[in-house]
Amino acid sequence: MDERKSGGFAVAGDGVDPVRVPQRVLYTGATMPAIGLGTFGSDRFGAEAVAEAVLGAASVGYRHFDCASVYGNERLIGHSLRAILAGGVRREDLWVTSKLWNDKHGEGDVRASCEQSLRDLQLDYLDAYLVHWPFPNYHPPGCDVHSRSPGAKPYIHENYMKTWRQMERLVDGGLARHIGTSNMTIPKLELVLRDARIRPACNEMELHPHFQQPGLFRFVRDSGMVPIGFCPIGSPTRPDRDKTESDTVDIEDPAVVGIARRLNVHPAVVCVKWAVQRGQVPIPFSVHRHEYLGNLRSIVGEPLTDEEMAALATIDRNCRLIKGQVFLWKDGQTWEDLWDLGGEITPP
Ligand SMILES: NC(=O)c1ccc[n+]([C@@H]2O[C@H](COP(=O)([O-])OP(=O)(O)OC[C@H]3O[C@@H](n4cnc5c(N)ncnc54)[C@H](OP(=O)(O)O)[C@@H]3O)[C@@H](O)[C@H]2O)c1
Repeated sequence: MDERKSGGFAVAGDGVDPVRVPQRVLYTGATMPAIGLGTFGSDRFGAEAVAEAVLGAASVGYRHFDCASVYGNERLIGHSLRAILAGGVRREDLWVTSKLWNDKHGEGDVRASCEQSLRDLQLDYLDAYLVHWPFPNYHPPGCDVHSRSPGAKPYIHENYMKTWRQMERLVDGGLARHIGTSNMTIPKLELVLRDARIRPACNEMELHPHFQQPGLFRFVRDSGMVPIGFCPIGSPTRPDRDKTESDTVDIEDPAVVGIARRLNVHPAVVCVKWAVQRGQVPIPFSVHRHEYLGNLRSIVGEPLTDEEMAALATIDRNCRLIKGQVFLWKDGQTWEDLWDLGGEITPP
């Protein structure tokens, strides 16, 4: 058993050797571990628990962490990252993402926000810095889905590009190795790809068996971006405010449950395996060691069969869980307006 301890970090004997974890190649040639640990505590798990999970996950072989300033835990995660690096993990073997929050799109705000995340995370650079949402709207953390920001704005491409120019300068200045997008649609990405000097290297998007987004998934990959999949398990612990009666439950789907029985694993593990095998980078969240270890082990174990992959491809229910209602900018709209379902950016 390999036990190497330093400042709270120890390589666990029952973990997965990080060199066995598949990697995705970005257009820069850099590689990203094909699974990351999510760090949004969903209002249920405090910063201490999440920071502890980051340390524990690194001990069992995770090298990719999906952070964001709005998750309110980057400072404590920074202590974990420092311990991981002090414990002998090389910085170049870690992949750390952070994200720009919606009230920081303005001139001068992007660099300041990135610098704050770097200070909190105790890093010199981020592997990826993403624009968390394409809408520059402030709403208080934890607010109800009916809450609306009085100054709410739609997607205005010219304004997004002003934010993007600031993102590009982070790459120029070495603060971020890659920049990327999140919660985007094809028509919005088409414009950004057309106008960017530094193209987005990845797009973070909701992806789970009941929400496969085949069109956007294909577009992202065909455009040379890595799709990072959030809520890969269908976010069973998401805040109650993000639940609606019509939401479906991936881990109760008979196809998922059937495969889980065959493999003798939790259905959540099947969702993670499916995600990696399909080609997205899932970022499952858990503070429970047996869960995050099980998720990691599953992706270096026996793959799902072609028949199982084909069966899972058929269970898409087009069930978006993170609908984004708080971003709506005028009365009478529904959350579908945020997602350009007609193939064009919803007019202001
Ligand atoms: N870019 C964005 O706008 C955006 C939006 C949402 C999320 N994200 C990112 O995506 C990450 C993941 O999404 P998420 O946290 O909403 O949902 P998720 O990863 O789909 O689900 C997390 C929950 O699944 C359960 N779970 C995980 N592994 C399991 C296992 N092996 N067996 C049984 N249960 C398991 C855990 O429940 P229990 O705790 O009950 O065990 C955990 O709380 C977030 O943490 C965040 O980093 C990004």
